[in-house]
Amino acid sequence: MVYEHGCVLEKVPVIGRYSVLLPRTILNFIYAFKSQQIIERGYQEFKDRTCQFIRIDGQMLLLPLNLLEELSSIPNHIASRNKALEHDLLGRYTGISLILDSRLHHTIIQRKLTPRLEQVAPVLEGELAGLFEEYLPASSDRWTIFQPHHVFAKISSRLSARMLVGPELCRNEEWLEVSVKFTESLFTSVAILRFLPPCIRSFVGPLLPSYWQSRNYLRIAKGLLSPVFEKLLEEHDTGKWELDNTNEANLNMIAWLVDSAKGADRDASTLAHIEVLLALASVHTTLQRLISTLYDLTANPSYIEDILQEIGEVQSSGWSISSYAKLRKMDSILRESQRMSPPTIVGMKRIFQAPYTFTTGFHVPAGAHVCLPTFAIENDPAVTPSPEIFDGLRSYRKRLASKVSSHGKDQEHIFTTPEKTMLGFGFGKTACPGRFFADVVLKMVCVKMFQEYEFKFMEAQSRPKNFVLHDWIFTRPWDTMMVRKKNNGFGSF
Ligand code: HEM
Repeated sequence: MVYEHGCVLEKVPVIGRYSVLLPRTILNFIYAFKSQQIIERGYQEFKDRTCQFIRIDGQMLLLPLNLLEELSSIPNHIASRNKALEHDLLGRYTGISLILDSRLHHTIIQRKLTPRLEQVAPVLEGELAGLFEEYLPASSDRWTIFQPHHVFAKISSRLSARMLVGPELCRNEEWLEVSVKFTESLFTSVAILRFLPPCIRSFVGPLLPSYWQSRNYLRIAKGLLSPVFEKLLEEHDTGKWELDNTNEANLNMIAWLVDSAKGADRDASTLAHIEVLLALASVHTTLQRLISTLYDLTANPSYIEDILQEIGEVQSSGWSISSYAKLRKMDSILRESQRMSPPTIVGMKRIFQAPYTFTTGFHVPAGAHVCLPTFAIENDPAVTPSPEIFDGLRSYRKRLASKVSSHGKDQEHIFTTPEKTMLGFGFGKTACPGRFFADVVLKMVCVKMFQEYEFKFMEAQSRPKNFVLHDWIFTRPWDTMMVRKKNNGFGSF
């Protein structure tokens, strides 16, 4: 079977091609607005077989679930995840091509951030204490309209900033703007350019304001952070500074990056660029999760009672990193919310850099771009009964049952634990390295939010709908809702 990027792989059925007469640009346009339905139909029709769909930049193979484990274990030099991400986010136009040369943004989270969450959590709790008062315009005697996207962008960027750039820069308005707006301008450019054939993108890209905005935000970040990195690198090289794990001022990426960077990565401008990539990976993912969870709980308020009771029990012995692990009902709610509103329709994207034959005999040629229908898998009634219902304690019940059957081990059906049918964080060794940090931040913000505030949707409105474009799922930034400060609400932080 011969595959050239852009040609239909022989014998693999094509989905979403309403007519062979329709040109690729039209099919791509349809996919941009109907990806959920196209992928869902493909998944249901070809559950155990590969099919493919047409995008403007070529075909994508939609692999069946039975290839997930093998796919996740294929080394990156054969099935490249960073090439797929760079390709998808159009690195040439958006400044993320650095991920092809450096993996530091990934390893730094695994090696430095996650093992230090116990020290990082109290620092974030301290930062969170004043954030709602600062950004959420709420009073206890009346309902106030607010835009969740606006408020949670501020809260998420401030908490991420404390971890990314440390105590001195975490309130710097320029950094906070970069950490939110770089991602927004990047996605605006990608969303537009993905409607256009690759051959004309290099002409149209520079005509987009968002293209220049991303470059400008990257320039601002480098201007701000490079001198800080230069100074610390110099001090580290000359033995004047060493990472001190007991010093709160060292609990941030600037210190960890300087302590870890080697070779080509050991450069102030590169490290500043990595900080922007980390903001890209963390701020909006957390923000989207917070908004979806708020919507889901406002639409299903009985769960708010459940989690308040749980928070009350947990906080009686004080807050520490283990407290967040004990919020099992909240954990289940976050998982359920992510199942219904994950970041993407398809996941586990890889570009094959060499031919590969799966153990099932399915052969993938070099150049093939593959993915799995993660949203359809998680929402398959055979996997999740009544998937259209928000059942906040679905995973909690499964967790209790598996704890009984595994003689007390409590490690399954947890928000941060990917499963074959729960793929919002990816799967296997390549799964999102930031999920443990995200877990703590999300739980911390939820504790504060539901202890101290009440929420409702706008008059005569129900849960705002998600917005699907290409294969991304977003909350709509323009949606509003109402908030009131609780009279008797007292917060943990
Ligand atoms: C609820 C929030 C989040 C979700 C749903 C999420 C989801 C994902 C997914 C699906 C992947 C791709 C995994 C794969 O391809 O196998 C990923 C990768 C990644 N995530 Fe997250 N993530 C979240 C939060 C975070 C946070 C807070 C950070 C940083 C602290 C982070 C850092 C990363 C990084 C560095 C990668 C790897 C990118 C690469 O390989 O170049 N994520 N995430």
